[in-house]
Amino acid sequence: MRIFIEGIHDMGLLITLEGPDGSGKSLQADLLEKRLQAEGYSVVRSREPGGTPIGEAIRDVILNPDFQEMDSMTEALLYAASRAQHVAQKIRPALAEGRIVLLDRFLDSSLIYQGIGRALGIETVEAVNRFATGGLWPDITFMVYINFEEGLRRKKAQKGSLDRMEAQQEAFHRKVNEGYLTLTQRYPDRIVLIDGARSVQDVHQDIWDRTQKMLAERDS
Ligand code: TYD
Repeated sequence: MRIFIEGIHDMGLLITLEGPDGSGKSLQADLLEKRLQAEGYSVVRSREPGGTPIGEAIRDVILNPDFQEMDSMTEALLYAASRAQHVAQKIRPALAEGRIVLLDRFLDSSLIYQGIGRALGIETVEAVNRFATGGLWPDITFMVYINFEEGLRRKKAQKGSLDRMEAQQEAFHRKVNEGYLTLTQRYPDRIVLIDGARSVQDVHQDIWDRTQKMLAERDS
């Protein structure tokens, strides 16, 4: 049986990046990973949904545009199932080794997309995810935010087919976009709001400054 104490995970550090599609959070994850490695830290980089073979298989089901009939609760549980495997197989072991785990999306995405966007309720989705992760929360979350119009502008510049989530109605995406700000207000001690509309370098500098501060506090 797995027994976890909420919020306690040995000496590692769990950093997550969140943000609307097109906010540049994956690029920021790349830059942060390189910077941490250059400073000599051991980093495990991963993403959700996915991050493990089982998680990637679940990801294919969730994002498959053929499954238009997917119920919101099914969707929430599939994201949580992918996360449970990720936490058990990859995240907890890395944290126990004292490594830095850097995630491109984690449970805040579920609170926003399923809790707010699908209107399942933040508390309900939080409860499902507490079960899935054994109460593991990020040490710090960077919310790389761009507003809905900016997101739309950036999306139009991209090519390619839309996955099932991207293909949702505009009203859903507007709700989700506001959800990023709602969640930031809900967890002011953990979530750092970053203005993603600025240059890549400026955004990176903000993220790096806060990360350094966090590491200094941890190591002091
Ligand atoms: P992905 O291609 O990883 O999106 P992005 O490049 O924007 O990070 O696809 C993941 C999609 O799933 C994205 O639209 C956000 C959504 N999502 C949820 O709805 N709930 C979740 O818990 C997670 C992790 C992602």
